[in-house]
Amino acid sequence: MILVTGGLGYIGSHACVALTQAGERLVVLDNLSNAKRSVLERLRELCPDAILDFCEADVRDRGALARVFAAHRVEAVLHFAGLKSVAESVARPLLYYDNNVGGSLALVEAMLAAGVERIVFSSSATVYGPPLSLPHREDHPTAPHNPYGRAKRMVEELLADVARAQPGFRYVALRYFNPIGAHPSGRIGEDPRGEPNNLLPFVTQVAVGRRARLRIHGDDYPTADGTGVRDYLHVMDLAEGHLAALARLRAGGGSLVANLGTGRGHSVREVLAAFERTTGVRVPFEVGPRRAGDLPACWADPSLAERELGWRARRTLEEACRDAWRWQCDNPAGYPD
Ligand code: NAD
Ligand code: UFG
Repeated sequence: MILVTGGLGYIGSHACVALTQAGERLVVLDNLSNAKRSVLERLRELCPDAILDFCEADVRDRGALARVFAAHRVEAVLHFAGLKSVAESVARPLLYYDNNVGGSLALVEAMLAAGVERIVFSSSATVYGPPLSLPHREDHPTAPHNPYGRAKRMVEELLADVARAQPGFRYVALRYFNPIGAHPSGRIGEDPRGEPNNLLPFVTQVAVGRRARLRIHGDDYPTADGTGVRDYLHVMDLAEGHLAALARLRAGGGSLVANLGTGRGHSVREVLAAFERTTGVRVPFEVGPRRAGDLPACWADPSLAERELGWRARRTLEEACRDAWRWQCDNPAGYPD
């Protein structure tokens, strides 16, 4: 079985669908701090024949982890569980080190105690910090400039140290760029609590009438149209990256740190245009000041993932907009409580 921590969250839930459709049996562990239980019902509805066990627990809870490993024959772990707000990490750094580093430490300890030696970890492009040059390559120096990013880098280092000390232990750390979109069924998607931080959920909430207008955070960046540029990848492409990582570990491949992105950057205005073109819905916007801590541009060199994992992003920005819009229209208020 595969243990999926944080499997009811945005990315983890999409990975669960990709995994079960590939015939994997899963046990999901999530403390529901940023997910609703109804996600589990949606997953079971999308994957009716799948073996999908659920354990409501905190990944820092060593007793709960020991019980999960004792009750299931876990072969590998996909570790999504974590907090992900950069702004919150600046305000509450200890919470982020405790949850994201402490949680990973407890998990790896429990894995070793149970003889489980393969893990795929959700890292982030944030570990790079301000780019010396673009696109980001995995051998570029890392210089995260907030506690969230530093916690991600610490977990990458923790995994590398354990792999050095423990010959059988192997990991893949995937540095995600900007996941967007939803499963094409419209049954699962991104459901942020409160006002969305991220661009696409904000756009879809404006389009569906939950918010009056998008605020573009600055149009005076040194980019082609002055708005910020990011590497947006479809969440199902990202989910499939985890299958590729798992396949590598099963095949005896070595530990790896790899970017998952498309290799293309799009500006905020380009994303808006793609959304309007695909859905036919106009999105009112205003231009505001820059958001503190934002970088002008960030995109991946994904060639290592293609070489080492045989993975590349296949879906277009338009498909991601279409799928995000379907999810938003079918679930205007997000998941039911
Ligand atoms: P999410 O908040 O939707 O999902 C995270 C899940 O983990 C939630 O279901 C939450 O309830 C659970 N969780 C959090 N702390 C936990 C704990 N201590 N014990 C058990 N469960 C816990 O976030 P997401 O967007 O799906 O992100 C998944 C992972 O990918 C995170 O580690 C995040 O840092 C990383 N990541 C996300 C992005 C992004 O843009 N979404 C980019 C780069 C990396
Ligand atoms: N943006 C707006 N208006 C909004 C929201 C976003 O103009 O309401 C702009 C931002 O300024 C940026 C772009 O849209 O130029 C993308 O912003 P997101 O917040 O969607 O994504 P970021 O790249 O800023 O941040 C994401 C994750 C962070 C992570 C970072 C780097 O949300 O957690 O990628 O990996 F740290």
